[in-house]
Amino acid sequence: MAEVVHTPRVFSGIQPSGGLTLGNYLGALKRFGETQDQGEMPTIYCIVDMHAITVWQDPEKLRHATRALTAGFIASGIDPTKSILFNQSAVPGHAQLGWIFNCVARLGWMQRMTQFKDKAGKNSENVSLGLFAYPALMAADILVYHATHVPVGEDQKQHVELTRDIAIKFNNDYGTDFFPVPEPVIEGAATRVMSLRDGTKKMSKSDPSDMSRINLTDDADTIAKKIRKAKTDPEPLPETLDGLEGRPEARNLVNIYAALSGKAAAEVVAEYAGQQFGTFKPALADLAVERLSPISSEMSRLMQDPAEIDRILAHGAEQANAIAAPIVRRARDIVGMVGA
Ligand code: AMP
Ligand code: TRP
Repeated sequence: MAEVVHTPRVFSGIQPSGGLTLGNYLGALKRFGETQDQGEMPTIYCIVDMHAITVWQDPEKLRHATRALTAGFIASGIDPTKSILFNQSAVPGHAQLGWIFNCVARLGWMQRMTQFKDKAGKNSENVSLGLFAYPALMAADILVYHATHVPVGEDQKQHVELTRDIAIKFNNDYGTDFFPVPEPVIEGAATRVMSLRDGTKKMSKSDPSDMSRINLTDDADTIAKKIRKAKTDPEPLPETLDGLEGRPEARNLVNIYAALSGKAAAEVVAEYAGQQFGTFKPALADLAVERLSPISSEMSRLMQDPAEIDRILAHGAEQANAIAAPIVRRARDIVGMVGA
């Protein structure tokens, strides 16, 4: 039955809704660039505008956020001559395969998705049908390129597992092994960056408090202020990582330092053992400014030429479509659809 040899290929996506946070950078963008530079597998990165409209977006803001996110990718090290970089809605295969997967995924599977439950809250009768079907479209994003590796933050693990279930069920239902069963790649010191105000909540662009997050567009003073005011406890830093048990805010700052510096969290703790946050926070602020300010200035520079950004996206869409179109054609054929 071996129709296709699944060569390794990386796919990931980020929504153009709101700005980028330090969580997106450490959990996703920084690692996307590293994977690209390792050069072991082709890398495809997507701005998922179809996912963004599962909740209403102001059209002008969506256009702006799509370009700003493209600039954020490039400023973080994604090189459009090495990776394919494009926006989802420009490649029709996502919607085409997404529909087929809506018919493969089961209602019960979707009802278990924690991100849907969190986003819909008590309002689940009133959210869009798209928000509910969101993970089936995400499965199509990945599988329309036969991607095998999906680098994401911890919060996306359940969605990648659903993608695996969809690939397996499609293959079983149609007696084929056409789709690969992709792996989530969740690694590094900061796969779950937490809020600076509450160490039990994920750092998120949708948190009402701007002090809870570092935005990639924050200037040096703002970054320093947010870190200085970050919630901590009165204890000094411990000798070993075990001493951070039950201290989520302290653990989060150590993880951020580790991810930004490329050191292991244990090394960071050893370096600052016994020191107060009054010493650690300024060191972290300096490091964050040093790493993030080149990214934010490069983003502003790129944003001055939106036409160039659009050209990069159009070129990426063409390359993406060249991979996706034959896969969609074959999937339609497997399902029993005729025509071009
Ligand atoms: P989103 O902005 O929700 O579309 O997320 C884009 C990518 O960033 C996904 O891979 C997420 O897992 C990752 N991400 C978002 N927030 C965080 C966070 N607080 N910590 C680590 N990764 C994150
Ligand atoms: N759901 C992801 C998020 O909110 C974004 C996303 C859409 C994605 N399609 C994807 C991530 C495919 C990885 C692969 O962060």
